[in-house]
Amino acid sequence: MSDLWWEKTVIYQIYPRSFMDTTGSGTGDIAGIISKLDYLKELGIETIWLSPMYPSPTDKPYHLHDCGYDISNYRDINTEYGDLEQFDQLVAEIHQRGLRIVMDLVLNHTSAEHPWFVESRSSRDNPKRDWYIWKDGRGKNGKKPPNNWTAMITGDAWKYDEHTQQFFYHEFLDFQPDLNYRNPEVQEEMLNTIRFWLNRGVDGFRLDIIHALFEDEQCRDEPFAIPLPFTSKYGLIKKTERQLHLPETIDFCKRIRETVDEFGGKFLVGEVHGPAEDQRKYFGDVANGKSDGLNLVFYFNSLNTLLNVKKVKSLIKTAESSFADPLLPTWVFSNHDFPRRIFRLKNDIKKAKLNAALQLSLRGVPCIYYGEEIGMSNPTLDPKTSKDALSHHLRLLPAVSRNLIRHFGLLLNRDEARTPMQWSSTENAGFSPPEGLPWLPVNDNFKRCNVEQQEKNPGSLLHCYKRFLKLRNNSPVLQSGALKIIEHPNFPSSVLAYERYLVDAPAKCLVLLNLSNRAEHFSVPYQNGEILASTLSQSKVMVANKIALEAWEAVIIEVEGIAS
Ligand code: NOJ
Repeated sequence: MSDLWWEKTVIYQIYPRSFMDTTGSGTGDIAGIISKLDYLKELGIETIWLSPMYPSPTDKPYHLHDCGYDISNYRDINTEYGDLEQFDQLVAEIHQRGLRIVMDLVLNHTSAEHPWFVESRSSRDNPKRDWYIWKDGRGKNGKKPPNNWTAMITGDAWKYDEHTQQFFYHEFLDFQPDLNYRNPEVQEEMLNTIRFWLNRGVDGFRLDIIHALFEDEQCRDEPFAIPLPFTSKYGLIKKTERQLHLPETIDFCKRIRETVDEFGGKFLVGEVHGPAEDQRKYFGDVANGKSDGLNLVFYFNSLNTLLNVKKVKSLIKTAESSFADPLLPTWVFSNHDFPRRIFRLKNDIKKAKLNAALQLSLRGVPCIYYGEEIGMSNPTLDPKTSKDALSHHLRLLPAVSRNLIRHFGLLLNRDEARTPMQWSSTENAGFSPPEGLPWLPVNDNFKRCNVEQQEKNPGSLLHCYKRFLKLRNNSPVLQSGALKIIEHPNFPSSVLAYERYLVDAPAKCLVLLNLSNRAEHFSVPYQNGEILASTLSQSKVMVANKIALEAWEAVIIEVEGIAS
């Protein structure tokens, strides 16, 4: 059984702008986060991941910044959230409660406003020129991009700079120039930034689009996979072998790991998009039960997985084979870039409860997005008034494409997943004081869906999360046990069953998920059985090993013996 705390942890992502505003500015702040730490402790999570709070040009119009994912100073705090002193207080308050803090680190690119980039673009011979990726253009007058690379979501990855008549490379939006990791100074600077925050006591980092760190040194064209007419424009379907997942990126992840290991007891979780076999590479090499790359990598296949036995089983099987022990999957169903999970579940609370039971009973590290525990949903917001710079970029897409893309689980307006946390049924949902104007509209459903109201209702989604979190936090089997999918003739075809077990411990946890609209009655093929938690009832019992599951109900049962 593992003795590494982060292998047993539960992560909770806070999007600071939207969590709690104490000043009435309309955006969340550090004091707001501190005021809600007791809530988080009681909820039962341990690790708080904060989306970026560093200085970033958030005073510019919204379409010119990425709400913190474009950093202009890596070693300070954006004044809209507070300052370094308040940050230190936050770390102390978090630790006092036995909680942990993980910073979001955007290593791939800076803001175009970062003094390094300002210097870099000032002249071709500036000492910071090589900190970014500058190339001559093609064509007669050099105004054609250096090659066919496209940015992750939007068109060209190259932007022409009149001043020095070269192009710079950006994997994300054009105000987020990529740093040049082939320059050793850049590497050292960033490793020292990591040390800076670890010295301030943070417990780890979430690494933003870490798979994009290095690009092909010779800058060769990407071979396009399917050259659909809209591909070159939006770059949604392309091969990525020259821009993403380069071996040099994996090597640098190992250096980050070495740096973090200088401090002991810290961890790294990477944002890596791509098939599970590509994600696997970021864990590095495994020897003596340990890997030498990132400790964890978000497993994103879950975001759009439909709740049926076949799909969920295949989701789990891929995770189990790609991230087999000693690796662990990191289970994420919602975050600040994708539609909230409940949107995929058609806002059905029973399904959301089942999804919580699934997430909290799988092998690996669960990562909950703020508001997911109360079933906050994404409203449909008018793209014309969106604050999200990405949405601004995509605003000219016709409605038909928008709906199609939305259907496939991508958000064209990420504001929809970032609306203010719904604390109560008072003005502004308790997010901003009554005189404040929240930066994004509060979801209309806040009077029905908020923390205060769900606290009072033992049948609420919030209480369901608390029950399953409490169970997990007190169960070495659920925290560290192996997972085995159980096929048995007793189980109805719509019921997915898996065991969590520790070698040499007789008691195991059997998880049963009824993935259907039908109630199911069957007998559980084990010697003993005691129901530890159900998503729909607080006092469910089994009589003579017979169980009745309501539609979309999930239970965890302590069992002994072998399914027979
Ligand atoms: C991924 C982050 O999750 C997203 O919010 C951000 O816009 C991009 N990386 C660029 O940093």
